[in-house]
Amino acid sequence: MRVSTVLLCVLFLWVEGSLADTPANCTYEDLLGTWVLQLSKGGHDKTVNCSNEATGVKMVTVTLEKLSVARDDLGNTGFFTLIYNQGFEVTINNYKWFGYFRYTEQGENVTSYCDQTLPGWVHDVLGHNWACFVAKRVEPILPRTEVNPLQQHRLARRLLQMQHKVNTDFIQTINSAQSSWTAAYYPEHEKYSRKDWFYRAGGPASRVPARVRPARWSAAGDKMASALPEHWDWRDVDGVNYLSPIRNQGSCGSCYSFAAMGMLEARIRVLTNNSQTPILSPQQVVSCSPYSQGCEGGFPYLMGKYVQDFGIVEESCLPYVGDSTPCRIPRSCGRLYTAEYSYVGGFYGGCSETAMMQELVKNGPMAVSFEVYPDFSYYKEGIYHHTGLLDATGPFELTNHAVLLVGYGRCPKCGQNYWVVKNSWGDGWGEKGFFRIRRGSDECAIESIAVAATPIPSL
Ligand SMILES: *[C@@H]1O[C@H](CO)[C@@H](O)[C@H](O)[C@H]1NC(C)=O
Ligand SMILES: *[C@@H]1O[C@H](CO)[C@@H](O)[C@H](O)[C@H]1NC(C)=O
Ligand SMILES: *[C@@H]1O[C@H](CO)[C@@H](O)[C@H](O)[C@H]1NC(C)=O
Ligand SMILES: *[C@@H]1O[C@H](CO)[C@@H](O)[C@H](O)[C@H]1NC(C)=O
Repeated sequence: MRVSTVLLCVLFLWVEGSLADTPANCTYEDLLGTWVLQLSKGGHDKTVNCSNEATGVKMVTVTLEKLSVARDDLGNTGFFTLIYNQGFEVTINNYKWFGYFRYTEQGENVTSYCDQTLPGWVHDVLGHNWACFVAKRVEPILPRTEVNPLQQHRLARRLLQMQHKVNTDFIQTINSAQSSWTAAYYPEHEKYSRKDWFYRAGGPASRVPARVRPARWSAAGDKMASALPEHWDWRDVDGVNYLSPIRNQGSCGSCYSFAAMGMLEARIRVLTNNSQTPILSPQQVVSCSPYSQGCEGGFPYLMGKYVQDFGIVEESCLPYVGDSTPCRIPRSCGRLYTAEYSYVGGFYGGCSETAMMQELVKNGPMAVSFEVYPDFSYYKEGIYHHTGLLDATGPFELTNHAVLLVGYGRCPKCGQNYWVVKNSWGDGWGEKGFFRIRRGSDECAIESIAVAATPIPSL
């Protein structure tokens, strides 16, 4: 049914549903309950290939309870979080377990087995001792079959091959429909095809399926919020800028990597009072990370994990090419690591405006994701909100674009609260590479999934 819709609507295409790392589509509720984790032999290092390891050497039982408590059968407690609709991470007894939910594909159908995982990785919190595991929920969940969202995507992608034509009528329509923000013509956009735009705005593996509602904040949260400054901007904190320069991801779906690198770069500057200003390699993530899909997309949370587990080199060591090239890192290159990474609000689904403001002021910029509609690419200045207008000249796929949250404020004249966000589309786009977007109403889901990570600066 979806397929025929796609074929008929050549001029106007809106593919709903999920596109993510894997086609699995599982929920938080699926995760709650008791799981048996079957281990392989331990003693590996991080080069272990979990598709080759036999599991079942040892078993561990863990119960996952609301809201984020993991408990083993000796009564030890730890932490867990769902990772989008893809998998989960459990930290307990100084071990971290991460696995994707199991799925199978049959023609256009995908079946999610939300009570099982594919072979996943487990290692101690220091990253020394690695093994592999598969997990199975004690209480079974019936497999769920739906039309493979990635399959829908392939079909849609054929339509995306057509040249992107800048639509000046659309720009005019946006500008006459509202006065909060201004759309403009970018001559340089002519060089990108529709497919390029799709990748610039997130790529196929960046989509977030079921929208997560931001958490309702408690009265205690409101009190903390009132103690926060009314304005904050890491480009100018008492006259000092803590951000690395704006970059351009090109037509690779690497926004998640730029957002994560931008966060680590800024936080190193914050932690070292600008005495260390490394530029990190988004290309390393694109080429080397087993936790993401190169130019097809990925998720910032798993970048915090990737940098903790594998470390990240500087840009000069592995310069950005914007393509999924083979992983070749010179041995002489030093690596930087993260001490911590988390969803803001504590776990996936726990996010809120106030939690984001607090995290921002206290610890620095963070990676956020939002839904990109066609009007957004024409943004020039002002406080963005989705106008509801759609560009009638071509197909469109909703994507989820990762960017870096760097500030917030209030525009008294227009009576709007806004976020300040750093994009990775070059400094000629928007407000010198940045944009502002409505704050407090979860505009385009920007208050749903914020990710924080703490880098460890050099000595
Ligand atoms: C994924 O699961 C959610 C919740 O069960 C559902 O609303 C959604 O339609 C499913 N499918 C896709 C393709 O996202
Ligand atoms: C892991 O092993 C599988 C199966 O042997 C192989 O296809 C895959 O390429 C290996 N992955 C890596 C990163 O070496
Ligand atoms: C996909 O699922 C539909 C509906 O459940 C079914 O009719 C169809 O035969 C399935 N296709 C394949 C290739 O299994
Ligand atoms: C941070 O750097 C600025 C500019 O170099 C300097 O004036 C200030 O004293 C430094 N702050 C601390 C706490 O070292």
